[in-house]
Amino acid sequence: MDIILWHRILEPYEMAVDELILKFRHMKEEYERCGRYCPIEHVTGRVKSISSILDKMQKKNIPMERMEQDIEDIAGIRIICQFVEDIERVANMISRRTDMEVREIKDYVRNQKESGYRSYHMIVDYEVNTIDGPKKVQAEIQIRTMAMDFWATTEHSLQYKYQGKIPERVGARLSNAANAIISLDSEMSAVRDEIMDAQLSSKMKYSLVEDIVSTIENMYSLTTTREVEKIQDEFYRVYQQDDMEELIRYHDQLDLIAQAYKAQSNRQGEGIKKSED
Ligand code: GTP
Ligand code: MG
Repeated sequence: MDIILWHRILEPYEMAVDELILKFRHMKEEYERCGRYCPIEHVTGRVKSISSILDKMQKKNIPMERMEQDIEDIAGIRIICQFVEDIERVANMISRRTDMEVREIKDYVRNQKESGYRSYHMIVDYEVNTIDGPKKVQAEIQIRTMAMDFWATTEHSLQYKYQGKIPERVGARLSNAANAIISLDSEMSAVRDEIMDAQLSSKMKYSLVEDIVSTIENMYSLTTTREVEKIQDEFYRVYQQDDMEELIRYHDQLDLIAQAYKAQSNRQGEGIKKSED
């Protein structure tokens, strides 16, 4: 048998995982910067270990020359969402992208697996540019809620512990837990709007304060200290009221004053606009 240069083979997959994680994290930042709720809670990824690849090849009888075609999850990305509704939004975001081509979808959210496993999988083709030129690789993107992830991680550990033969009593507990996860997700969905509102308004407060403080700092270099002191005192007074409307009003007034001094914060508008969704 020819020598198999594993690390050489896996290099493009390392690139794909790094790039995809970066892209999804940037999507999240982009949402946050314009003050919109982001359906992505967090993103992780990994390249399958050589030993797991060998195990899978053995289990599924995959010859070496078909390894890259037949093992879809050499590059694996996991996107965790807060709410079930977010899964579809993330899936749509992925489908619309021009840099990843969806090759297959497995919807284990609507069609729960017998084990109780739920998650939405997309197999995508993704092109990386290596020193030897472009190469298309497959990546498996798993999209699931935090609750689904908790269940899957726990079940996976038990599968490992019992080498795939989970005792009946443990299996029954897992099955109960899977049902509990469904009801947990649905309870969270019922208060989704309120949770989203609360999160958006805490981000908005954060942005307003950042903005106000930058404006005050800019003014400090352009006008008399006495005047800026007064403005700052007013800010602390308004802040103590703990009233968002008042803070917005103060922010907008300060903005007008700063315009006169050409001292507006250079962060103007970043993330302080509440969005439609
Ligand atoms: P496998 O990866 O060998 O399962 O290939 P497959 O073609 O059967 O794909 P499938 O969509 O069933 O699974 C892909 C991945 O989803 C797995 O590698 C796991 O990460 C995850 N997965 C699927 N089923 C389960 C399950 O019952 N429990 C857990 N914890 N994870 C699962
Ligand atoms: Mg499977």
